[in-house]
Amino acid sequence: MSIPTGALVLEPTADGSMTLFSEDFGEWFHSRQGAYAEAYATYVEATDLASLAQAPTLTLLDVCYGLGYNTAAALDTILRVNPACQVRLVALELDPRVPSQAVEQGLINGWPTAVQACLQDLANTGQAQRPWLEAILMWGDARQRIQAVKTLEFQADVIFFDPFSPPHCPELWTVEFVQQVAACLHSEGKLVTYSCAAAVRTAFHRAGLSIGPVNAAGRRWPGTLAQVSSVGLAPLSPQEQEHLLTRAAVPYRDPTLSDSADVIRQRRQQEQSVSDLVPTSAWRKRWLPPHQKVTPAR
Ligand SMILES: C[S@@+](CC[C@H](N)C(=O)[O-])C[C@H]1O[C@@H](n2cnc3c(N)ncnc32)[C@H](O)[C@@H]1O
Repeated sequence: MSIPTGALVLEPTADGSMTLFSEDFGEWFHSRQGAYAEAYATYVEATDLASLAQAPTLTLLDVCYGLGYNTAAALDTILRVNPACQVRLVALELDPRVPSQAVEQGLINGWPTAVQACLQDLANTGQAQRPWLEAILMWGDARQRIQAVKTLEFQADVIFFDPFSPPHCPELWTVEFVQQVAACLHSEGKLVTYSCAAAVRTAFHRAGLSIGPVNAAGRRWPGTLAQVSSVGLAPLSPQEQEHLLTRAAVPYRDPTLSDSADVIRQRRQQEQSVSDLVPTSAWRKRWLPPHQKVTPAR
């Protein structure tokens, strides 16, 4: 996969923090209801990171580091609740321009100084070392880089899973990639994403994870919390359960972890067309008000 070259356009969000729009992926990096707020609510609060950080050590995997906001919200929280916690962090990112632009344009200036310094080190050198922190930012296609993470025998207490949405970036929501990521999750760890797409939830199931809904700040739909064990997960609503029985639940596939987005989208369309699952239109009619055309593809 080639490194994106399209423009990254600055955009303010409702909480005063800035996000970017990616011309290559045709999508904003964060909810426009608040980029910093999303990092706290959808990732840090949803995983109850403040409680997990009471432990002497914490291991984090940030899939799609971007501007580093999810990492920043995590580091800020850990430093506030337990500065003695020893943190190990691995982050994956394709486009080196993004973390650099976040630093150079001052988009990270709203985070505490100690956190900003870590993000600067990560953007400039790909690592941040502190007495309490060992962090690396691995560049390249996450589908390949995750293999290197696995060789570290990395078992994450928390995984932030934040690619662009499935229709725009299907390569990071496939059963095969999710399986690789799930292999890095500790048996008692938590993986969180903003997406509640049925195809995504099916991929988590196929990777052997249990799932539950979780509040996703600034978004119309809940996010998804995934764990090895179902203990502590909120139940899916009847609407969400039925969604998983429709063709929307046909997952994205990428057997060699190297296909293009177009090939992955076409493969899924083909599988949907021959699927025994009921068409999603019946589910939509039953559960969504007539004026609401947008379904949770994200
Ligand atoms: C929604 S943004 C992530 C926002 C980020 N979590 C933050 O807090 O700023 C998605 C990110 O995924 C990256 N990305 C896209 N395709 C990728 C790939 N194949 N491997 C790794 N990263 C990828 C994009 O460059 C972008 O930074």
